[in-house]
Amino acid sequence: MSTLARWQVSHQRSISYDIIATSALLDPANSSLLAAGRVDGGRRFVVVDEQVAGYHGAALESYFAQHGIDARIVHFSGGEAAKTVDAYLQLVRELDDFPIHRRDEPIIAIGGGVLTDVVGFVAGSYRRGVPHIKVPTTLMGYVDAAVGIKTGINFNGRKNRLGSFEPPLQVLLDRSFLTTLPLRHMLNGMCEILKLAVIKDAALFAQLEHHGAASIANAFQDGDGGVMLDRSISGMLEELQPNLFEDVLARSVDFGHTFSYGLEAHYTEHLLHGEAVLLDIAVSVLIARQRGLLDAAACERVFTLIGTLGIVPLVELLDIDLMWNALLDRVEHRNGSQHVPLPDGIGRCVFVNDITAAELSSAITLLRDRTTRKNEPVLEC
Ligand SMILES: NC(=O)c1ccc[n+]([C@@H]2O[C@H](COP(=O)([O-])OP(=O)(O)OC[C@H]3O[C@@H](n4cnc5c(N)ncnc54)[C@H](O)[C@@H]3O)[C@@H](O)[C@H]2O)c1
Repeated sequence: MSTLARWQVSHQRSISYDIIATSALLDPANSSLLAAGRVDGGRRFVVVDEQVAGYHGAALESYFAQHGIDARIVHFSGGEAAKTVDAYLQLVRELDDFPIHRRDEPIIAIGGGVLTDVVGFVAGSYRRGVPHIKVPTTLMGYVDAAVGIKTGINFNGRKNRLGSFEPPLQVLLDRSFLTTLPLRHMLNGMCEILKLAVIKDAALFAQLEHHGAASIANAFQDGDGGVMLDRSISGMLEELQPNLFEDVLARSVDFGHTFSYGLEAHYTEHLLHGEAVLLDIAVSVLIARQRGLLDAAACERVFTLIGTLGIVPLVELLDIDLMWNALLDRVEHRNGSQHVPLPDGIGRCVFVNDITAAELSSAITLLRDRTTRKNEPVLEC
């Protein structure tokens, strides 16, 4: 049958948002939190991580009170187990009970990557999209989860199976939030910084070698820590910005994010996102080494740095079936190709499409063997 009529709709909308580092964000003298919306008679729906509320709840309430803002402050429990459809719906219900303007009373999300992912999805779907501001309070959020435009919730036993691309109105950074972060979560975020260093930024890698351990100890409050945070965000944005909607499916920032999904979804209670990413990084580095992409010295440097930072890969959770099935799922996600980034030097990567189950299995065995050899600080390659 021939076409009788055809209409085409074509529209372009530019995306632009600022990521602003500030200090003393909750000091009433600092207007950053309110600057992007209506202040006079304004209202704000604020979702805050309950741990963060424990430290800053009073300051937060007083901040809005002093600015004459009618704020509904909702506490949200962090942790991967909270990233559910139920948690999402509960927030939508609370939001629906608190009227806000559709355009000039942005939702404010203050918390880790779980919270900003869920609240971003709430903001993106409520009334087909209302603006939101992200304030990351974990290292993971600061250098990764809060700076991009991806939102998501876990569904059907799978990570981030429901979600959207929802640009924030703003991202506000205050690194003093990191001072209360437990060590495990500091290391968790460090794994994403390590990811960037290995596949994209040799200078950042060297900074981590020299200052990484001290920055973890001082919660990134000193000058070196600040430099590394800024560099990580810049590096992340260099990768994200030209491909914001992931039209290109070979993405270097997917390093560490191939085999990790199966482990993370399976061990929700035991394995944090960054810990799963670290296992993926370690296995990927060994695959790269086995292929001769990475020489022994570079491979050694990665494992030495992992040790220097005090990160212990949870190798007992490595599982060939979970990891191979995760790769198969990523092939669907990446539209039919593996597109697995592997380092071919420190600060560089290539994409491969032919990883086999046998190759993965041998890298897993290698990693297990090396790590379980006790009293050897360096996992030599
Ligand atoms: N959207 C993206 O592009 C993107 C990128 C990377 C990661 N993520 C997602 O981020 C999530 C992980 O984020 P996360 O590691 O921040 O987890 P999280 O949000 O669960 O926070 C970790 C823990 O720290 C607590 N916490 C938060 N801020 C604190 C503070 N300042 N002091 C003390 N405790 C604090 C939380 O209550 C929680 O228990 C994963 O679900 C991952 O998929 C998303």
